[in-house]
Amino acid sequence: MKIIFATNNAHKLSEVQAVLGDGYELVTPRQCGIDEEIPETAETLEGNARQKARYLFERTGLDCFADDTGLEVEALNGAPGVHSARYATDGHDFAANNRLLLKNLAGEENRRARFRTVICLIEQGKEHLFEGIVEGRIIDHEAGSEGFGYDPLFVPEGFDRTFAEMSAEQKNGISHRGRAVRKLVDYLHQTEK
Ligand code: IMP
Repeated sequence: MKIIFATNNAHKLSEVQAVLGDGYELVTPRQCGIDEEIPETAETLEGNARQKARYLFERTGLDCFADDTGLEVEALNGAPGVHSARYATDGHDFAANNRLLLKNLAGEENRRARFRTVICLIEQGKEHLFEGIVEGRIIDHEAGSEGFGYDPLFVPEGFDRTFAEMSAEQKNGISHRGRAVRKLVDYLHQTEK
């Protein structure tokens, strides 16, 4: 079954495809002829996921889903949160975001943080939301080269390695996005019956 996923980020695409399994073929907006950046101007993860999914649905009329993720750092009152992609600059500059996060947490003892993903599925025109959370902490230096974004700084609870030091399979097994996508898959399987 084909389903449109609102991302052109190759990392995210392969993470989500791995969790969805062979029964689903993910189609990107670009493959549907949507080349412009999909608007995400809401002030919450839920709002952005809904906005992106609605946009795709209105353009294609097909079943689709969108996700939005934020890194919520306790000592920073939940920042960067919904602004995670553009924390340091206007673009998606992962290295600059990581530098700014380390700077803002310098000398801070409370390193607690969590990743939160919200997925909005639009199926036959109806919206469904799924959430995935992973708790952890921000270390004081980058470690590892796998994954993307804040992965080199985030150690999930119960582990002593960052997401960037894990294989994609390990990360998917415990990650915010993996958890949210498994809820989506459970829902899709239920409705198939
Ligand atoms: P998006 O909403 O999924 O595009 O995520 C917004 C931003 O959060 C990204 O630009 C990354 O900086 C960060 N981010 C999202 N997912 C992850 C992840 O799995 N690991 C590390 N950083 C992530």
